[in-house]
Amino acid sequence: MTIVPTAASVVLADIRKSFGSLEVIHGIDLSVTEGEFVVFVGPSGCGKSTLLRMIAGLEEVTEGEITIKGRDVTDLDPSERGIAMVFQSYALYPHMSVRENLAFSLKMSRTSVAEIDRRVAQASAVLKIDHLLDRRPGQLSGGQRQRVAIGRAIVRKPDVFLFDEPLSNLDAELRVSMRIELARLHRELGNTMIYVTHDQTEAMTLADRIVILRDGRIEQVGTPRQIYEDPANTFVAGFIGSPRMNLLRGRWVGPGRVRVSGVEIDVPLSVAAPPEGSEVEYGIRPEHVEIDRNARSGMPATVEFSEYLGGTRYIYTRLTDGQNLTVEDRTDIAIENGQSISLSRHAGKSLAFDGNGGRIR
Ligand SMILES: Nc1ncnc2c1ncn2[C@@H]1O[C@H](COP(=O)(O)OP(=O)(O)O)[C@@H](O)[C@H]1O
Ligand SMILES: [Mg+2]
Repeated sequence: MTIVPTAASVVLADIRKSFGSLEVIHGIDLSVTEGEFVVFVGPSGCGKSTLLRMIAGLEEVTEGEITIKGRDVTDLDPSERGIAMVFQSYALYPHMSVRENLAFSLKMSRTSVAEIDRRVAQASAVLKIDHLLDRRPGQLSGGQRQRVAIGRAIVRKPDVFLFDEPLSNLDAELRVSMRIELARLHRELGNTMIYVTHDQTEAMTLADRIVILRDGRIEQVGTPRQIYEDPANTFVAGFIGSPRMNLLRGRWVGPGRVRVSGVEIDVPLSVAAPPEGSEVEYGIRPEHVEIDRNARSGMPATVEFSEYLGGTRYIYTRLTDGQNLTVEDRTDIAIENGQSISLSRHAGKSLAFDGNGGRIR
């Protein structure tokens, strides 16, 4: 019997999943707080959908326990869990109107006509689809269909909403506007939401807390800011952020000192310092590197090429030891390919990682 804190909405206790003899989820512990928006993010195949489907009851749990609002639901049917799930494929009934699609699950559970009408009206108002109620899915745009799919979840008044890549079928512009809609929806409804995506921008913008998954294991759980500023390892550091964090081979030369491409750099002094001379990785985000106008004092580099995006410019450089370093630059300093420059780093933004990719702190 697991002891569940009262504010917990969904608790996963040592969850494992095998397909045949192959284990794909290797013991996940996670506690989602009531009303929280939690995003599972990670590369394709890392187990996001499998984990969500186990919470939904669509996939059997091989080992471990799932509780929702303090109730053990591990072996319960999806319909008994107080959840509603929204998929990437909208899975609407094509021969039914929007109104009938929204009402369907309530009809099946013998909800009164008056209550169905009330909930359909409420959900369609929240989603701004009240003018579409008499259309069929075939007469809707992709974004409108996805709203109907979300509406079908809302009318059921679930304790927990589960989303599996709900915006992946939409074009880029619509994804951004639906993302903002989802954030608004969460504020208005206040429900616990668990949202799966491979898109780091969706994760960063929607989540109260992000869960970073890799190969069926949790790499880090934290607020977007914690994940971005304080990554636990090189995988998290490289996965979140675009352009990627620069991760450079270096050597630990003394307490809080790393040598990279011939230059000694201060990194935060560490309790668990690696032995002197050991190989480490040095991490610094592109926006924390600057072109040194006075030159000479920084790290020497050669400009390979740059991309001008208007507000910013990405400058791809090569260091004297051949490693590459990307700079996100907002100045209008004239730069040419092949030019020698000197790079300086924002104090306090340097990170160091040990030989296994774990953060040295
Ligand atoms: N029904 C299944 N049978 C066998 N293997 C599966 C099945 N569903 C998923 N997997 C495997 O489990 C792993 C995780 O898959 P999935 O949860 O779909 O990943 P994600 O959603 O993160 O892309 C993958 O290696 C995938 O091939
Ligand atoms: Mg998936």
